[in-house]
Amino acid sequence: MSEISKVGIEKIGLYIPKYYVDLVDLAEKRGVDPNKWTIGIGQEKMSVIEESEDIVTMAANAANKILTEEDKKAISQVVFATESSIDFSKSAASQVHRLLSINKFAKSYEVKQACYSATAALLNAYNHVKLNPEEKVLILSSDIASYGANSGGEVTQGAGAIAVLVSNKAEILELSGKSLALTYDCYDFWRPSYREYPLVDGKLSTDTYINMFKENLEGFMEKYEDSEDSLQAFLFHLPFTKMGKKALVASKEDLGEKYGKQIDQWLDKYEDSTRLTRQVGNLYTGSLYLALISQMIYGDLEAGQEIGLFSYGSGAVSEIFTGYLAENYRDHIDVEDIKDSLNTRKEMSLDYYDEEYFKPKYIENQDREISLGEDVEGFYLEKIEDGKRYYNHR
Ligand code: HMG
Repeated sequence: MSEISKVGIEKIGLYIPKYYVDLVDLAEKRGVDPNKWTIGIGQEKMSVIEESEDIVTMAANAANKILTEEDKKAISQVVFATESSIDFSKSAASQVHRLLSINKFAKSYEVKQACYSATAALLNAYNHVKLNPEEKVLILSSDIASYGANSGGEVTQGAGAIAVLVSNKAEILELSGKSLALTYDCYDFWRPSYREYPLVDGKLSTDTYINMFKENLEGFMEKYEDSEDSLQAFLFHLPFTKMGKKALVASKEDLGEKYGKQIDQWLDKYEDSTRLTRQVGNLYTGSLYLALISQMIYGDLEAGQEIGLFSYGSGAVSEIFTGYLAENYRDHIDVEDIKDSLNTRKEMSLDYYDEEYFKPKYIENQDREISLGEDVEGFYLEKIEDGKRYYNHR
């Protein structure tokens, strides 16, 4: 492990919405063999939001779980990664900045590159903190992955937010500084600004993901020859739990001669990193970091071990980077809170899901008072007036 620097992830917080849709029930309603979704795709449940939730409330609730008053004073940047924007100009970061009373001299802005953008923010934050070791950067990943009822991507929906605090006190993952990105220009998944939901070429999207992983991995291993034997596990952006495994299996076919032993080891550790995604679904920008939390909770990796992370955002950009698990990294995650959030969720009825859930939320004028469920807690959306969103807390 590097002696010179401990810059990386100090804290990580997860917000999971209170409602889910059961995918076995939904498969039956759609006339699909449930095994296709639970085994072929690898998903059991997907998170769905309530009227009073949006990307701002989810991000604020995730960050509120981890930030102390000291953190709020030390944060110099609030970066909001999303592809579920609620405004083409105003950034959701400034709303979270106010809701959490972060010091007024922190800059706040939103970033976009499909599911990849939180990784751009993380690696920029790493460089920033290296230069400014007293400062902290808060990265918010918050998304509602929706394709619409009866759509090809329906089983790969999800919602939730992850807050990551980057500082020179990496209590969870010390970033190594090793990284290699890759850019393609393709339409595998895209959402023109007039559309409520994205368009997707499912086959092209999975092929592009796999090809970019292979090319990125080969390039990374050539750039950092010492990584060949050191990476103990690989974490993936997981639009659904089978996706990273498909990339690993395809890589073994093509690159097995060089990296077969390593890939077998990554396959061996893979399932631990997918357990939360199986219950929650695609978090878009937060998905890779959900895999990190899952690995921390369910995995058996030891402090000091180096892990690889594969970030992917359609359109398409990928990046492989690595980090070292910190001493006692498991003590820095609230396992009980996460398990409790999962176990106390309520099932959304399929009638409500089909009839109400997909009513337009962003593109059309949505001015309204929000009717609050009794169990709403934390930050919530109170009303939308003249396109302005008003939030409250309870
Ligand atoms: P599909 O047409 O529903 O499924 O599309 P399929 O026909 O490809 O089958 C899926 C798997 O189920 C196959 O296994 C089948 O054999 C198996 P595989 O060949 O993959 O190993 N299967 C069964 N298994 C057991 N029992 C059965 C059975 N029947 C079939 N009875 C697709 C699936 C993921 C393409 C679709 O859901 C989709 O379009 N989703 C949205 C796009 C997506 O998630 N793409 C992933 C890569 S792109 C990405 O990650 C970026 C993204 O997060 C966005 C961003 O960056 O912003 C999406």
